[in-house]
Amino acid sequence: MKKRILSIALVAVLAATLACACGKKESTGMTVNDGVLTMATNAYFPPYEYYEGEEIVGIDAEIAKAVADKLGLELKIEDMEFDSIITAVQTGKADIGLAGMTVTDERKQSVNFSDTYATGIQVVIVTEDSDITSVDDLEGKKIGVQLSTTGDIYASDDYGEEFVEQYNKGADAVMALTQGKVDAVIIDNEPAKSFVAANEGLKILDTEYVTEDYAACINKENTELLDAVNGALAELKEDGTLQGILDKYITAE
Ligand code: ARG
Repeated sequence: MKKRILSIALVAVLAATLACACGKKESTGMTVNDGVLTMATNAYFPPYEYYEGEEIVGIDAEIAKAVADKLGLELKIEDMEFDSIITAVQTGKADIGLAGMTVTDERKQSVNFSDTYATGIQVVIVTEDSDITSVDDLEGKKIGVQLSTTGDIYASDDYGEEFVEQYNKGADAVMALTQGKVDAVIIDNEPAKSFVAANEGLKILDTEYVTEDYAACINKENTELLDAVNGALAELKEDGTLQGILDKYITAE
């Protein structure tokens, strides 16, 4: 009898250990907590991520949901400053970062990037009556950017830090432009279109500044998740889901 109780206890302990391990790991081997894929983003970047009421929607939100579905995970989206996303992924606060984030060599030192899922173009927004007609005219002008974005990095490199005003949100930079506090804003083309549509008296210059690739960032150590995400993305590309999501939010000119 005693023996039996002991073995039941043993089974219970074993089961508990197993359950605990399952909580941490998915069957595919990628490490995420409790079957939840936590995504870090900065939800002021339409059409990639923005609020619709309480809910964060947009291209990145839908792609992440589709990826999570493929991996049998639940998606949880955490909104934070753009500047904090890479740290969140590095420290494990988030599993993945999707934020219309450009792949750069510098960021690659801190995180891994998935295969690219979209193209971005840095463009210049000016007021309709501006004397700035191309990127060459930006020399010596005040340029508004979103802090730590590629727009910020390139503008600081090309025109000098002292000419660059950093804002926490792209919309704040655009607001500063409408108020005459800066002469131009450098930002990604799709958000630029949406900000110009929402504000009167602004236009986007025809000349593109820089073309770049967007991808999801993942903790350098979690290569299993990187492989799983790339696998899911490949399937979503193949079956047209990815293009469908892009087309839903971006209307071709
Ligand atoms: N593509 C730019 C970058 O990676 C800007 C991204 C800003 N994204 C956002 N969700 N606010 O730096």
